[in-house]
This record gives sequence, structure tokens and C-alpha cells, in this order.
Amino acid sequence: MLADAVRVTAFRNALAEVIECDDRVLDAGTGPGILAAIAAEFTSGPVVGVEYFADTAAFAASAAHASALERVRIVQGDVTRVDIGDPPDVVVSETIGALGPEENIVGLTYALRQRFPQVRAFVPSRLRVLAEPVVSDEADRLTASVIGAFSRLQPGGLSFEELLPEVELALGSQIVTTRLADAMPAGAPHTLVEYKLGETSDADFRCTVDLGGSAANAVHLYFEAVLGPTIGLSSHRTKPFTHWSHSYVARPSGARYATFSYKHAARRFSCRWAAGSRY
Ligand SMILES: C[S@@+](CC[C@H](N)C(=O)[O-])C[C@H]1O[C@@H](n2cnc3c(N)ncnc32)[C@H](O)[C@@H]1O
Repeated sequence: MLADAVRVTAFRNALAEVIECDDRVLDAGTGPGILAAIAAEFTSGPVVGVEYFADTAAFAASAAHASALERVRIVQGDVTRVDIGDPPDVVVSETIGALGPEENIVGLTYALRQRFPQVRAFVPSRLRVLAEPVVSDEADRLTASVIGAFSRLQPGGLSFEELLPEVELALGSQIVTTRLADAMPAGAPHTLVEYKLGETSDADFRCTVDLGGSAANAVHLYFEAVLGPTIGLSSHRTKPFTHWSHSYVARPSGARYATFSYKHAARRFSCRWAAGSRY
């Protein structure tokens, strides 16, 4: 993540846009303290980085000390509860999961808004999860290799031949993380969910995408984050590659509807396919 220059540069540019000269800044989930250190470049006010894990917080505190970043204070604890002193003006939090909400950015920013109603800006301020129908050789190769393995007669004479449609459906429910270099669009992207960070309390969603009439053999899943007034960050396959990689689900033969859902209690994204009417 530290080596992900696309990510770090986008956050830096957004913090430069959003922070005013004497703002108090909170980096919620500071890890090694990188966003807290960057924030300190743009304000003469105090910057607090809060990290849940004690060893990571100690590492961040040592790094800030060794770098003579006197205005950066690292606090260990749960950022939604731990005492940080004066309320912040700006909250930055890079707790974005592979598809968006899995690292609890929605619940965390909502809790911080409840705790500090006077926060002027959250970075990011919005997070969307999208699904784009695509045609991808990589998805065909994956399906062919899995179906090929199940098509072969197994030792002992075990045959899965009758179950191949089930195998394809199960494969289609797997979210594959890869580099989608070869995909082409096969329909307009659908917004599955949009979170207003600090305002949206519940990350759970369920949304059905109709692929009827599309030649898509896969659906590319990605996020778009609004970091600042002119700065965004996206894991879309055509954007600069990040450590979040690219995600997709393979479309089973004959499947028309893909229902995507997220349940935060289980930290789980799922995709269910149906051939006919929506379910
Ligand atoms: C994806 S890392 C990002 C680290 C750093 N901000 C960066 O941009 O490189 C998220 C960090 O947030 C921390 N974290 C998540 N939830 C937290 C919470 N409620 N309180 C404090 N830290 C939390 C995790 O332990 C992890 O170190």
C-alpha cells in the first residue's frame, strides 16, 4: 500500500485541496502514519493518527518521531472511541476494501460524524461500488479451465458431467481478483450502491443487474471514491493500476440476472445468478 503511488498521490492531492491552513486533522486508521504525515504538510494545526493495532501504532509513532514530525501525534485505539483531544475539522480515512466497504469505511465515518458533528470534510466524501458488463478472454480462460477439470472423468470413475451447470453457477459466484488487461466494455456500468461517508450508516446493499441482450461473459466490479472536489480514485480496469487490483465475476452460460449483495456483519460480497425472472 505504501508503494501504491497512484493511491498515495490521489490522497495527497485531495488533502492539498481540502485542508485549510490551521485545520485539525484526524487520520482514522493511520497504519504506518503516511496520510497523517502528508496532512501535516498542509496545516499548521495538530494532526492525530489513530491506529487500532498496538504494534502498528508504535511503529507509526517511531516513524513520526524519527522524521521530526512534531505536530503528528499517534494514538493507539479504536478511532470511534479513543480520546483524541479537540474535535477534528477534517477526517481522512483510507479504510477502503477491495470492492469498497469491506474495511468498514462506512460504519467508521458514520460513527465519527456522530461523535464529531463539527467535522467540515471527510476524505473520501463518497464511495460508489459499480458493475460493468465486459467481454474478457481471461474470464473465458478461467471458465474453460474449471469446467475442463470437472469434465474429465475422475479417478474411481467419478463423473461430474451432470453437475456442470451447477459448477458454472458456483464459479460465477466467486469474485476473482486479477489484472483485467484484455476486457472490453459490453454495456453501461451500473451503480450498485453509493455511500455518503459520514452520513450513510449501513453499508449493506442488494442490487440486480440485467445482462439480457449483452454479449458480456463477465461483470467487472470496481469502486469510485470522491477524495476531493476535483480528485477521485477508482479501481476500474482502465484507470491506473492500484494494489486493489481488478475484480470480476464470470457469467455462467444462460445466466441473465446477477444479484450483487453485501452484508457487513459477515464482511461478505456475494453474487447470485439467475436465468429467468429476478429473485
Ligand atoms: C488500509 S490501512 C491504511 C493505513 C494508512 N492510513 C495508509 O493509508 O497507508 C487501514 C488501517 O486502519 C486501521 N483501522 C481500521 N479500523 C480502525 C479503527 N476502528 N480504529 C483504529 N484503526 C483502525 C487498520 O488497523 C489499518 O492499519
